[in-house]
Formats: sequence, structure tokens, C-alpha cells
Amino acid sequence: MTAGKRKTAALDLQEISRQRQFCEKVKALLQTKYTQKPLAAVVTFGCQQNLADSEKIKGMLAEMGYGFTENRLEAQLIIFNTCAVREHAEARVFGNIGMLKAYKEENKDVVIACCGCMMQQEHIANKIKKSFPFVDLVFGTHVIHCLPQLLYSVLSEKKRVFETPDADGVIAEGVPVLHDSKTRAWLPIMYGCNNFCTYCIVPYVRGRERSRDKNVIIGEAKELVSMGCKEITLLGQNVNSYGKDLEPRVSFAQLLRELNEIDGDFRIRFMTSHPKDCTKELLQTMAGCGKVARHLHLPFQSGSNRVLKAMHRGYTREQYIELVNYARQLMGDDISITSDIIVGFPGETYEEFCETLSLVSEIKFSALFTFIYSPRKGTPAAEMPDLTPLDEKKKWFKELTDLQEKISDENMKKFRGKTFKSFVYGEGKLGAGYLAARTDGNLIIEFKGGRELIGTFQNIKATTPKTYVLVGEIESSD
Ligand code: 5AD
Ligand code: SF4
Repeated sequence: MTAGKRKTAALDLQEISRQRQFCEKVKALLQTKYTQKPLAAVVTFGCQQNLADSEKIKGMLAEMGYGFTENRLEAQLIIFNTCAVREHAEARVFGNIGMLKAYKEENKDVVIACCGCMMQQEHIANKIKKSFPFVDLVFGTHVIHCLPQLLYSVLSEKKRVFETPDADGVIAEGVPVLHDSKTRAWLPIMYGCNNFCTYCIVPYVRGRERSRDKNVIIGEAKELVSMGCKEITLLGQNVNSYGKDLEPRVSFAQLLRELNEIDGDFRIRFMTSHPKDCTKELLQTMAGCGKVARHLHLPFQSGSNRVLKAMHRGYTREQYIELVNYARQLMGDDISITSDIIVGFPGETYEEFCETLSLVSEIKFSALFTFIYSPRKGTPAAEMPDLTPLDEKKKWFKELTDLQEKISDENMKKFRGKTFKSFVYGEGKLGAGYLAARTDGNLIIEFKGGRELIGTFQNIKATTPKTYVLVGEIESSD
């Protein structure tokens, strides 16, 4: 088995060990400053990639001697890991930072830090610098692994630190990770994006695609499984182009096959798949790999070919439908297909939006993530004329969500009487005694059972379908 090596040098182990020394320095400093273990609150906005980054941040903080709290107002360090994908997400972050002004005034020693995609935009970092003087540290997506050094500067020199280099980013292996869950883990397989969809800020703030070494990923997955992890979600903006930058090239399908061979009872998920790079080989691999969940998150964004072209998506409506049909041909009803949709892209007409509705009716997705277009500074779409008023877009949006609600209702009804092998992940929301489990297709199924079942796979028969959740009863353990 040959390891995929990256064409560009990436693994700067010396740098990581330098950062570990800074962890020690911060730890020593904290011990002189506090009699009790200081607490950190890490607040995460946005996607799974950010959740994975926050797990790294917590891993480093734990090494520096921090404990953790959910309550910001008892923390000595507060870190906001931010999202830039839509304006609404940014507004929430500003609101959250603003709320800390009084806390910081009363507790001058508290350190407030911001990181993530928002901070990688110059105008945002400048706004923080000017309008939020109580924020001590701002660091971008390419220097997360430098947190120990940056925090040391803040603590020892008592100055504000802004570190948001505009690099394409390295892959920092060997950063400690503190997983939020013992049974479910995020496993980033690549970073960045090369696609430059015209509405999207991600390629600007996360840099170009960089795949992690295949054997490092497999090693990490083995370790997770040996520690009792039951669901591993492989992460990347476009997992289908995994390995294109490795030498020798490795395909995502190949990575999946090798992960599938790891011993143990666990499930592999992945996201996000880009339709333009989703190959038949990948779908065949999914069909042939028992541990790969039958769930495909395949964002199509718009049902109109003209809009898809303006979005620079690189596929047509017809190609998308063909892919979905092929996946269903291979995996039948077993496969759950979900998608992302943008409503009101600049220049989109109501007729074009109706093509999105018709695609939604045709495919019958298990679930949809729907968004009203949000202009992002610096992207080509933000410069395109956009004459449709927001109120009109909101009406279209409602039409879309109403349609999906009907489809979800019908889909769920079809599941009555069906048995799903499901992973029991915690307590349910339907009432006392209910547990919640996730099916292969990423549906939530609740059932009555003892807490000892949490963390195991169970066969659960759906008895009562609701719109977004199934209610069921346990059949037998697997
Ligand atoms: N406006 C609205 N939605 C967006 N997305 C990405 N950029 C924007 C934007 N500018 C959506 C896409 C993507 C998901 C993660 O967020 O649907 O798939
Ligand atoms: Fe953004 Fe497109 Fe890349 Fe997804 S594929 S992160 S939508 S540029």
C-alpha cells in the first residue's frame, strides 16, 4: 500500500512541536495567574468543518491547561469560531461579540478571541479592530495550529494580536484534538475549495484544495474505531475531488474502500459531494461498501441550467438527475439524498425558480437545506444586478419549503413498518424514556428503551411517521 504524498510540502512537524512548546509556556503562565483551572468557552458557528476546527482548538487549549465551560460568563477565555457563508451568520457573530462588552469591562483579564472564516476577510478583521476594542485576539483559518503562540503573545505581552495571513494554507498534522463525542467524530480529509462558485466566499477564506495523506486519515480512523467511535463523518468542501493533488493520485472512492476494510462495527459518512465530481465509480463504491452509510448529500443549488451556469457549478439539471437515478438504481430506496438550494440568485426569474421547484418534486429529497441568496463581498455574484426584492424572494422561499414539507411527509409515511439499523446517540426529545437514533439515511428515529442502549446499533421498526422524525420500537440488537 503506497501512501499518497502531497505534491506541495505540507507537514511541518517542527512547527507543530514548536507550538507544543508554546502550550507549555501558556500552561506555566496560567498556573502563576490562576489558583484554579481556568475555563475556556469555545463557541462555534457554521458548518461541520468549523466544528472539527473547534475540536482542534479545544485539543490545544486542553494541553495549555484550560478546562471547558458552556457558560461564557464564567470563562477566562472565550473563542468565537465564525462562519462567513451568509450575512445572517455574520450578523449573529457580531451580536454575540457585542454582548461580551460589559463582561470584559468587569473582568479585564478575560481574553476574547475570534477565528474562522469571517476573520479571513480583511474588512471584517478591520471592523473588529476598530469597533470591538475589547477583542484581544483575531486569527484566520490558515493559522489555527498557531493558537498556542498567539495566545502566549496576548497573555504575556498584554497586547492585541491580529494574525490573518492570506496564504493558501498548510496542512497541520499532529495538532491535538478533543472530540466532543466519544461515539461520533468528524474527520477532515481535505481543506479548501477550488470551485469558485460565483456566490460563495469559501474559496477566498479557506484557500485551495489540500488533501490529507491517505494513510494518516486511515490511521486516524482506526484509532477512532479502537476508542469506540461508531460514526465517522469524512469532511471536505468537495470530498469527490479528494486526492487529486496527491502524488500518486488517490481517488475518494479508493479512500472509502480502504476505510471500509477497517475492522469493527462502525459507519462511515461523508460530506459534501459536488455533483460535477461525483463519479459513477464513487456511487458503485458506496453500493459495495457495507460500512458506508446510504446517504448522499449532493447540493444542486438550482434547477435552472441558466442559473447553474451563472453560478459556475459545472453540471446541468439533466446530468444531476442522471446521477441521482444511477445512485437509486444501485442502492434503491435505501439511499437517502439530501441537497442545498439557493433561492433568489442574482437575475433568477420566477420561471427559473419554478425549475428548482420542479426538480425538487421530481427527485423527492429526504431533506433540503434551503437558503436565500446572500451577497458576499468580493465574490462575482455580488457584482451581478439583483433586481428581485427580498420580500419576493422570501415568498419563493416559502413556496419551496412548503413543497419540501409535503414531500417529507409523504416520504416518511412510506417508512411505516420498515426496520432501520440505527445508531442510538442519545436521549430523545419526545418525552421521558425516549431515545434518539440515526438511521443509515440520516433520519432521526425515536423509540423507548433503556439508556444502556446509547452508543450501540439497534434495529428499530418505524411505527409512526412524523414530518421530521420517525417514532419506532426496538426489534432486536444487531
Ligand atoms: N448565499 C446563500 N447561500 C449560500 N451558500 C453558499 N454561499 C451562499 C450565499 N452567498 C449555501 C450553498 C452551499 C451551502 C453550504 O451554503 O447552498 O451549498
Ligand atoms: Fe462554495 Fe462551491 Fe466550493 Fe461549495 S463547491 S465551498 S459552494 S465554492
